[in-house]
Amino acid sequence: MKKQELEGNLLSPLPVVLVGARVNNHPNFLVIGYICPFDFGKYIFFSLYKERYTRIGIHENMTFSVNIPSIDLLTETNICGNRSGRDFDKGSLFDIFYGELKTAPMIRECPINMECEVTEILDYYPNDGIIGRVVKSYVDPKCLIEDNLDWRKVHPIIWATGGDFNFYQLGERVSNEEDKND
Ligand SMILES: Cc1cc2nc3c(=O)[nH]c(=O)nc-3n(C[C@H](O)[C@H](O)[C@H](O)COP(=O)(O)O)c2cc1C
Repeated sequence: MKKQELEGNLLSPLPVVLVGARVNNHPNFLVIGYICPFDFGKYIFFSLYKERYTRIGIHENMTFSVNIPSIDLLTETNICGNRSGRDFDKGSLFDIFYGELKTAPMIRECPINMECEVTEILDYYPNDGIIGRVVKSYVDPKCLIEDNLDWRKVHPIIWATGGDFNFYQLGERVSNEEDKND
């Protein structure tokens, strides 16, 4: 098979997340596309451009939240990804709650939330590589079936790379947990 070279990182698609932090004692959120779990999900790693307003709060409190919006939050998500907290109050878009860490603002309207404490910040100028330990995770009970998360009920916004920088929705389930035990 002949392959064509394509520029960019093609570890994609990934869910769009809203990362939250308190900047100058006020909640702020931005869209992060380059994010991944590691160490079997105990930690989260993401790429944060040093110019971001949210970065001030992450460095100040050494905490952040990861919120997964559903498709019905597309408008708010676009605002969080295009406007800076320097000149727009993104905290006012949402109903906010706090968990164990007290300084990681979470979005009640998002079906999934995680509060994280920063364990390491890597200098990859012009970005920071932020590593955070997942302290607690929260879910809208409407997305559970028998206490297990059913992602089809979350309706996450999926972000693609490779030149196709568009948002998608999750497709059909193609596996069955019971089949894996055969
Ligand atoms: C789909 C998408 C993915 C993004 N991914 C990142 C990212 O991985 N890292 C980053 O620093 N900014 C990323 N951004 C840009 C920020 O979300 C955007 O600049 C935001 O307005 C910064 O807000 P702040 O200045 O209030 O922190 C992304 C934006 C979009 C729309």
